[in-house]
Amino acid sequence: MTPLSKIHDVLVIGSGAAGLSLALRLADQTRVTVLSKVSINEGSTLYAQGGISAVLDEQDSIESHIQDTLVAGAGLCDPEAVRLVVSQGKDCINWLQEHGVPFTEETWEDGSSHLHLTREGGHSHRRVVHAADATGMAIETSLESHARRHPNIELLESHNVVDLITARKLGNKEQRVLGAYVLDTRAHQVKTMRASIVVLATGGASKAYLYTSNPDVSTGDGMALAWRAGARVANMEFIQFHPTCLYHPHARSYLISEALRGEGGKLLLPDGSAFMGKFDPRGELAPRDIVARAIDHEIKRLGIDCVYLDISHKGAEFITSHFPTIHARCLEFGIDMTREPIPVVPAAHYTCGGVLTDSSARTDVPGLYAVGEVACTGLHGANRMASNSLLECLVYARQAALDIRRILPDTPLPPALPEWDESKVNDSDEEVVVAHNWDEIRRFMWDYVGIVRTNKRLERAMRRVELLKQEIADYYGHFRVTSDLLELRNLVTVAELIIRSAQQRKESRGLHFTLDYPDTDDSQTPQNTILEP
Ligand code: FAD
Ligand code: SIN
Repeated sequence: MTPLSKIHDVLVIGSGAAGLSLALRLADQTRVTVLSKVSINEGSTLYAQGGISAVLDEQDSIESHIQDTLVAGAGLCDPEAVRLVVSQGKDCINWLQEHGVPFTEETWEDGSSHLHLTREGGHSHRRVVHAADATGMAIETSLESHARRHPNIELLESHNVVDLITARKLGNKEQRVLGAYVLDTRAHQVKTMRASIVVLATGGASKAYLYTSNPDVSTGDGMALAWRAGARVANMEFIQFHPTCLYHPHARSYLISEALRGEGGKLLLPDGSAFMGKFDPRGELAPRDIVARAIDHEIKRLGIDCVYLDISHKGAEFITSHFPTIHARCLEFGIDMTREPIPVVPAAHYTCGGVLTDSSARTDVPGLYAVGEVACTGLHGANRMASNSLLECLVYARQAALDIRRILPDTPLPPALPEWDESKVNDSDEEVVVAHNWDEIRRFMWDYVGIVRTNKRLERAMRRVELLKQEIADYYGHFRVTSDLLELRNLVTVAELIIRSAQQRKESRGLHFTLDYPDTDDSQTPQNTILEP
């Protein structure tokens, strides 16, 4: 037992846009501890390119942003969640500017300065605020520097959460969260952390797929942690594949922002012909599910490795000022986007489903919140519209902070907790098993649970999950935990949740497309796919 160990008022697991903004929203009155399994700034937020959506243009309106989000979400968005998020866009941009985020500005003819708004798929107006093509880096580094200076915020890097501790896991009837077991990867030691409130801000699960735009941390840990703690998850079948990642043997799925298409970039076949017009009247700016499927279709039809994205007609000055990071990165691979098209393929990008939360970011487990990509708030429905994700992180961080502040004074303190028990485990003698199983999951998820699905493919994937689950549980029971093993254990859980959800949806809708039920069928499953633990 750890009767004298410190009690954390609020333990935030994750230090991306969701975790850091929540910590900063709370810190004037509350002590917050923020964990990151690697360095503080590593996560999807750091790599976000296009921007963050907000209604700022006089010609634009909240109603129009709501309508675009609902259309992209293919009938599954929760209209109240959409209104809640969209209506806070302007305030969130102001809050970020107050925290020093240097958004790109433009000067109008009358000499006045305004935020430059770019455009992305599904948006009927220019409404994407950005910092050139490295918006995430601007947000993450600004929030990190504020958090590092705040006396009420403790930042712990290299702390990988193994499992949540709940009263029920300790044999009580009540289902409250009490803390977490956390692997300090530098000290090679599992700590027991007691906490009154725990917030999951762990990001998405796109590393379950072989090709992804996401960094290594996106292994769906928060979804698996919440599931094992007894919380429901929803809409896990809706995995968003970004249409345009750089195709190059040495580029690890580097994203080529949708803003390129927003600013006039054209998708081309190897013979130079445009093809998006065949698939959707909105062409290159159709929602992502449509563009990714069209590219997948053309790649398979023609037996080609990739398609091409061409913006060279906009000229070198425009390209290097709007897309300096992408331009420099492509040049490293010998591609000069000011003169030639960029080879691109789709890759897993965003997890629309996640831990089911309410308008205050509360999960089913008392004391446990989920904010950011880990959560399923109802905003995205069956398909997320570009640049709505960072906004969602900020809005629900604010909502959670308001609720936590309200309930914290009456929240019971966690009792003494049992220490992590390593008495029955050894160091692994066959690390190759972990590496092999990682690769296997990511390969069959790509092949069988990807952009186009069938009943047979899903069954094949599920058979493999069943086998791997047993093998991984056995390994976990016998060997000392490492980060790779913890992530593998979480990956197999999210893979199962994705497949089970996909099997339940007997129609095609948004990001879930199956050849066995190619049509959208409102009479079948016009509702969310909710899995009960
Ligand atoms: P993340 O930023 O991913 O942070 C996750 C955090 O959780 C990390 O600190 C990680 O270490 C920690 N963590 C995870 N598991 C554990 C564990 N077990 N223990 C301890 N810590 C853990 N969205 C937009 O709106 N606009 C864009 O322009 C945009 N561009 C994108 C470009 C790219 C390349 C990518 C990958 C995504 C993009 N997105 C964009 C999506 C958006 O960036 C993410 O959805 C968002 O940043 C997620 O933020 P988050 O705080 O939820 O998680
Ligand atoms: C991009 O820049 O294309 C990514 C935008 C997003 O995922 O919202």
